[in-house]
Amino acid sequence: MRAVEIIARKRDGLSLSNEEIHFFVQGFTEGKIPDYQAAAWLMAVRLQGMDRQETVALTMAIAGSGKRLQLHDIAPFVVDKHSTGGVGDKTTLVVAPLVAAAGVPVAKISGRGLGFTGGTLDKLESIPGFRSDLSVKEFRAQLQAIGLVVAGQSADLAPADGKLYALRDVTATVDSLPLIASSIMGKKIAAGADGIVLDVKVGNGSFMQTEEDALALATLMVEIGQETGRRVRAVLSDMSQPLGRAVGNALELREAIETLQGNGPFDFRQHCLTIAAQALLIAGRFPDGAAAKEHLIRLIESGQAWLKFREWIAAQGGDLRYVDEPARLPAAHWVRELPAPRSAYIAGLNAREVGMASMALGGGRAKKGDPIDYAVGIVLQAKIGDRVEAGQPLLSVHANDEHLLAEVSQRLLAAYTWSDDPVQPPPLLRRIVGAGTPLPNP
Ligand code: URA
Repeated sequence: MRAVEIIARKRDGLSLSNEEIHFFVQGFTEGKIPDYQAAAWLMAVRLQGMDRQETVALTMAIAGSGKRLQLHDIAPFVVDKHSTGGVGDKTTLVVAPLVAAAGVPVAKISGRGLGFTGGTLDKLESIPGFRSDLSVKEFRAQLQAIGLVVAGQSADLAPADGKLYALRDVTATVDSLPLIASSIMGKKIAAGADGIVLDVKVGNGSFMQTEEDALALATLMVEIGQETGRRVRAVLSDMSQPLGRAVGNALELREAIETLQGNGPFDFRQHCLTIAAQALLIAGRFPDGAAAKEHLIRLIESGQAWLKFREWIAAQGGDLRYVDEPARLPAAHWVRELPAPRSAYIAGLNAREVGMASMALGGGRAKKGDPIDYAVGIVLQAKIGDRVEAGQPLLSVHANDEHLLAEVSQRLLAAYTWSDDPVQPPPLLRRIVGAGTPLPNP
């Protein structure tokens, strides 16, 4: 088999066999196939697409390109949750302990923020002492001990994805459905997940701008799950405005803590309940979503979800004084409240712009490896559909640099659109993909 022939077949729109895809991915991972051939192949895939059999083969080749975690000796059914990324998306901080408190083991590999989107690890690492660089041994031991572990990706897990993604980033081949779906699902399968709940965001603050694109991606990932014997559900949710009210690492952590303690913004709480309920359903714990949600609400009200969160943070070295008293968490030097510029209904609140503003304050990274400021960010006092009066607080900006504070304030005010007439807020939950399909046996 020769790489050039595989590139030519894809260039000509032919379907590649499992063997060809494995040969190519393995050869590239081991350095036997050079970047220039992989780049040509990625462009051919981007332009010609892949059918379902090819996408499944690519997913399994990525999953098999390095170590694969085997967790069945610890738990018969392990759940993971993945978001395609958004602004103010701190869902994992609530859903992971909530699902684990319901007795369903959660083992999750999370990422860091890049560009206008945040990352779970950055939010967790705003707790002094919290460690996300766990060895496989530590990862397994923690899953066994408390039924919940969230760590960063190690270099030997799905290494093909890291190499392919770096190349896609610089060859304009990121926006390909089979490449995105196989990248996400390959990593999840390598990390040992039996059940996967995908939170596919739709709107200006996410990767997929339209519901049509998000649905196509969600459907493809659910199909990959069916073909590979994983139980997968995808929730399509709104990202045309930030989720909840807080954007920024420590600010989001505080909001997650409030939510786990039974408070927190209504939209965020509802979203967490929806995602967590899907996790319980795929684990076969409840007959329907309503029963699962009722149970989850009890876990919050009784304090069990909060206790599981504390147990998790302590297990990964986090200093519990900071979560018990969130006022100790990193806090910005300046907090400025911006007043509403007019009396009207909020018609739009561009999530991407809010994410960019948080990044500009130092809360996110322009490129991989950049340092971040845990303290800075934005707290929204009103969202789409709310009526505000001129001069009433609209949002607060948390900054550590006075010049940036002024610059970002202008940018944030420009992220709003207004209406004199009442506005319906966009529904947070768009649809659930995979709910109607039978689940494979665990
Ligand atoms: N997230 C991933 O993990 N991979 C992609 O290709 C895109 C988003």
